[in-house]
Amino acid sequence: MSAKKLYIATFGCQMNEYDSLKMAQLLQNEYVTVKGPEEADLVLVNTCSIREKAEHKLYSLVGRFRDLKSARPGLIIGVGGCVAQQEGERLLKGLPFLDIVFGPQGLYGLPDMIKAIEGGEGPICATGLGRDFAIPFIKGPLPEKRPVRAFVTIMQGCDNFCTYCVVPYVRGRETSRPPGDILAEAASLVDQGVKEITLLGQNVNSYGGKGGEGIGFAGLIKMVSQVPGLARLRFTTSHPKDLGIDVMECFRDVPNLGRHLHLPVQSGSDKVLGRMHRHYTRGEYLEKVRRLRDICPDITLTTDIITGFPGETDEDFSETLKLLKEVEFEQIFAFKYSPRPFTKAAGFKDRIPEDVKARRLNTILELQNNISLKRHEALCGANMDVLIEGPSKADPLELLGRTSGNHAVNLPGPKGLIGRMVTVRIEKAFCHSLRGSLV
Ligand code: 5AD
Ligand code: SF4
Repeated sequence: MSAKKLYIATFGCQMNEYDSLKMAQLLQNEYVTVKGPEEADLVLVNTCSIREKAEHKLYSLVGRFRDLKSARPGLIIGVGGCVAQQEGERLLKGLPFLDIVFGPQGLYGLPDMIKAIEGGEGPICATGLGRDFAIPFIKGPLPEKRPVRAFVTIMQGCDNFCTYCVVPYVRGRETSRPPGDILAEAASLVDQGVKEITLLGQNVNSYGGKGGEGIGFAGLIKMVSQVPGLARLRFTTSHPKDLGIDVMECFRDVPNLGRHLHLPVQSGSDKVLGRMHRHYTRGEYLEKVRRLRDICPDITLTTDIITGFPGETDEDFSETLKLLKEVEFEQIFAFKYSPRPFTKAAGFKDRIPEDVKARRLNTILELQNNISLKRHEALCGANMDVLIEGPSKADPLELLGRTSGNHAVNLPGPKGLIGRMVTVRIEKAFCHSLRGSLV
């Protein structure tokens, strides 16, 4: 009997990419993963609810799958991830052709749930959120052959309750994975040919609290960095309030730690930061950046910004612009504020009109494009270590790689270099990437 076919659509963050890979890994004895839904026996949609726009995508996509199911009633459709967690039974009521609704914790029960559906059971909703849920360590090969990069989740959930953010409600309380599991998963990935690992968590700097056996995040970085054959280690995401000197020093002391830090600031205004419950001031953030650059002068920094948070005045916004000019991030990810269910800020009355949010977003992106280009131009002429990830997206005959500081570099070269660390001379700079040639 030929294997059944699985199609997974993934939205949202790197955590979701990791979760989707786990789904494929859990199901790989019965299903091969295919690139489109047309032929699939099982379709899983891994959803995101961080902003309203991400949530809308689910509804437009799932409509297509309903038509597929009318044509092939045996098709099983599951919706997982953060929207599933948020909506639960309501999704099953609204979209009665769904078979399974499961949250980020529920995904580990997928093999059993699918068997139950195949056995004729009715729709299943698995959206319980356990306080002490531990991410299982799934042994076994990766479903994808020899990827260069992979993620390892080191903790899940979040206890910070920033007033705009839905994550604590859909991913539950913060729990660290035991270091032994993390190390075993990382070593098994490197064994299978992975060269670069990114440690994932909503707030990696507080690793080691519940479940982490007291080793702390800097200790964990040092431990994982020593997996033989690991070319590069990265991590994301950091909360500025918890970023300690010991982690900053890892950028100087751990040779294979990528010299890039994503440090979301969200706003440059103390008033807005206070209302967001971020627990740091603009001054404290800038001080951390200064220390970091003292310790590791060539580190690249990236950040997240929200425009139009309730009550953000023109003056608050200009504080954010000033901060961007002061820090000179390599790149930023900027979003219009979007009210989310359960969150405190969704109840704030002083909402900002959509057109103002959009105008501020454009202003920010325009400013940042100039800063990114200027920083990238300063790299022209330099020789940089680049880990080759695969074919270039723009031109499949070329290669795409990344520098230690996480700049994307396109270059001509043979496919045989995929997975290798090479020296590249940087020749041309763009806002979002570099171009170079092999030395
Ligand atoms: N509206 C807009 N952006 C948001 N983010 C998180 N919640 C919201 C929201 N309600 C952004 C933050 C965060 C990134 C992952 O998404 O900038 O760092
Ligand atoms: Fe990831 Fe947050 Fe979106 Fe969930 S809501 S997929 S945790 S970004």
